Amino acid sequence: MAQKKIQRFEAINSFANVLQYPEGISGKWKDFFKNENPINLELACGKGEYTVGLSGLYPERNFIGVDLKGNRLYIGALKCLKNNQQNAAFLRIQIDKINEYFFPAEVAEIWITFPDPQLRTSRAKKRLTHPRFLRLYQKILKSHGLIHLKTDSPVLFRFTKLVIELYQLPVHAYSEDVYGDPEISRELSIRTHYEGLDIAGTRKTLYLQFSLPESPLPDHDAQLQELVKEIEKPILV
Ligand SMILES: C[S@@+](CC[C@H](N)C(=O)[O-])C[C@H]1O[C@@H](n2cnc3c(N)ncnc32)[C@H](O)[C@@H]1O
Repeated sequence: MAQKKIQRFEAINSFANVLQYPEGISGKWKDFFKNENPINLELACGKGEYTVGLSGLYPERNFIGVDLKGNRLYIGALKCLKNNQQNAAFLRIQIDKINEYFFPAEVAEIWITFPDPQLRTSRAKKRLTHPRFLRLYQKILKSHGLIHLKTDSPVLFRFTKLVIELYQLPVHAYSEDVYGDPEISRELSIRTHYEGLDIAGTRKTLYLQFSLPESPLPDHDAQLQELVKEIEKPILV
């Protein structure tokens, strides 16, 4: 591991706002934050631009950036420590286990910011808006809690729209060009590291805001997989 990475991994061990695979934290976040304010997650937060930005905008809410990579979390965590943003924290875990770290309805909203689009169709199950993940979010989200997806990947965006349609999820906001809107909100104006990289090469940021039903999601997963294979089939010329 590069020297800088090692130093950052060591540093977060002593950061009061970073929790790494904490045991017994579910249901206890109000003790951690010392208040009962609503908890918002930023999944796949990387350097945590949304956690830093939103916790600054909304001091009456709590924000938790979630990622596996400690050297990335370090950046956001250090900013929050320097700014004394006590309503922000960072959780280093596998998102696949997110329901082990929160009680049912302990989370008010979820932001998913520029997650890996997992472009290979065979990896669609790893996309953070796959029903496999939505079922985990359903376990921890308050009823009608919002999910925000910000991405530059047309593939992930199209996939998420397909999931929304197939599982009949309510959509609350939608944009195919976030920065083309002259009345862009303060939330959506926050730019992330990966956003700046424009990996998809479209120079467009896409946004979806939706919610989940209270009843369990139906099992259309096999049908979804077939549709994805069909839609994402490479065009042979
Ligand atoms: C493309 S980066 C985006 C980072 C940041 N949101 C941004 O926009 O700059 C995706 C992030 O998701 C994290 N990630 C991917 N799969 C994960 C998982 N299963 N559990 C935890 N983190 C994950 C990676 O470590 C990486 O930091």
